[in-house]
Amino acid sequence: MKTYLVTGGAGFIGSNFILYMLRRYPNVKIINLDKLTYAGNLENLTEVEHNPNYSFVQADICDKAAVEALFAREEIDYVVNFAAESHVDRSISDPEIFVKTNVLGTVTLLNAARKAWAVDDDAYKEGCKFLQVSTDEVYGSLGETGFFTETTPLDPHSPYSSSKASADLFVKAYADTFKLPVNITRCSNNYGPYQFPEKLIPLMINNTLQHRELPVYGDGMQVRDWLYVEDHCKAIDMVVRSGVPGQVYNVGGHNERPNIVIVNTILDYVKEHVDSTVGAQLIKHVEDRKGHDRRYGIDPQKIKDALGWYPETTFEVGIQKTIAWYLEHQDWMKNVTSGAYQSYYQKMYGNK
Ligand code: NAD
Ligand code: TYD
Repeated sequence: MKTYLVTGGAGFIGSNFILYMLRRYPNVKIINLDKLTYAGNLENLTEVEHNPNYSFVQADICDKAAVEALFAREEIDYVVNFAAESHVDRSISDPEIFVKTNVLGTVTLLNAARKAWAVDDDAYKEGCKFLQVSTDEVYGSLGETGFFTETTPLDPHSPYSSSKASADLFVKAYADTFKLPVNITRCSNNYGPYQFPEKLIPLMINNTLQHRELPVYGDGMQVRDWLYVEDHCKAIDMVVRSGVPGQVYNVGGHNERPNIVIVNTILDYVKEHVDSTVGAQLIKHVEDRKGHDRRYGIDPQKIKDALGWYPETTFEVGIQKTIAWYLEHQDWMKNVTSGAYQSYYQKMYGNK
C-alpha cells in the first residue's frame, strides 16, 4: 500500500484529489496535512472522514517540527503539494503570506522529504516522489496565438505566480542538486465542486443565484483555459505513478474562453433552468485587476504522448455539472460565505 502525504487537501483541488483517489483505489493511504486557512474546509471531505485509509493533520507546511514529526511517524511514499495561497487578487493586496506558504512552505517540505527518504548520499527510498502542483501562470501571459509548453521560459507577473514560479525553481534545484525524485505539474484554470467563491466561476454562480452584480474585470476579454478539476486529479495521479523523475508536465484541455463568455454561459444556464429573471443586467464591468494577464493557453501534448492522459469532461458538460453541484450544495456555499468572506467581498468589490 502506497502512502500519500497530500498537503492542502482541504482546499478545492486537494479535496477533489483525495476523493478521486479514495473512490478509485482501495489500497492507497492518504494523509491530509492542511493548515485550514480560509480556503480549507473539512466539510469537503465528510465522505472519507471515517475511511481507515484516510487521516487528517492540522498543520502549517512552514512548521518544520510538525512536518518532520509526520515524516518520522509515517512511511510516506509520495508527497503531493497542493498547499498554497492561491488567489491572485489576494496576492496583490498582501503578497507576504504568498512568499511564506508557497516558497518557504515548499522548501520546508522538500527538506523534510529529503531527510526522511535519504538512504545514502543522493540516493532515496525506492519509488518515492515529490510532486509539486503548479500552475500555467508561471509562464506569464500569451498574445493572441501560441501555447505554453514545458520549455516556455518562466515569466510570472503577479505576486501569486511569482511565488509559484519560485517554488518550482526550488523543486528543480532539489532535483538538480540533491537528485531528489520530483515532478512539477503546471495546470490551467480548474473549475468544479468545492471551489472557493473568490474565484471567477463559483463567484459568478453564487452572485447570479443571489441576484448580485457580476463584477467583470476590465473588458472581460481576458482568456483562461478551463479544465474540469477531476481531469487535473487524473493527471496528477498519472504523473505521481508514471512521470519520469525531474520532468515537468503541462496539463490542460484546450478549452480557452474569454471571461465574459464564461459569465454569459452561467447566466444563460441559470436563466433557463433555475430563475428566468436573471440576465445581462447583472453584469457590471469594474476596474481591471492590476497587471492582469491577458491570455493563458496550455499545450498538453507532452503528458498526452508520455503518459496517455486526456481530458474526459468537455467544458459544456463540466460547467453544467458544476452549476448543478452548487445548486445542490447551497448550504456549503452559505457556510463558506458567512463570516470572513463578507469583509473580503466588501474590501475587494465594495468600491469598484
Ligand atoms: P485553495 O486555495 O482552494 O486551497 C489551498 C489549501 O491549502 C487550503 O486547504 C488551505 O487551508 C491550505 N493551506 C494554505 N496555506 C497552508 C499552509 N501554510 N500550510 C498548510 N496548508 C495550507 O487552492 P486550490 O485552488 O485547491 O489550489 C491547489 C494548488 O493547485 C495550489 O498550489 C495552486 O497553486 C495550484 N493550482 C490551482 C489552480 C486553480 O485553478 N485553482 C490551477 C493550477 C494550479
Ligand atoms: P480567477 O478565478 O481569480 O483565476 P486566475 O486569476 O488565477 O486566472 O480569475 C479568472 C479570470 O476571471 C481572471 O482573468 C480574472 C477574472 N475575474 C473577473 O473578471 N471578475 C472576478 O470577480 C474574478 C474573481 C475574476
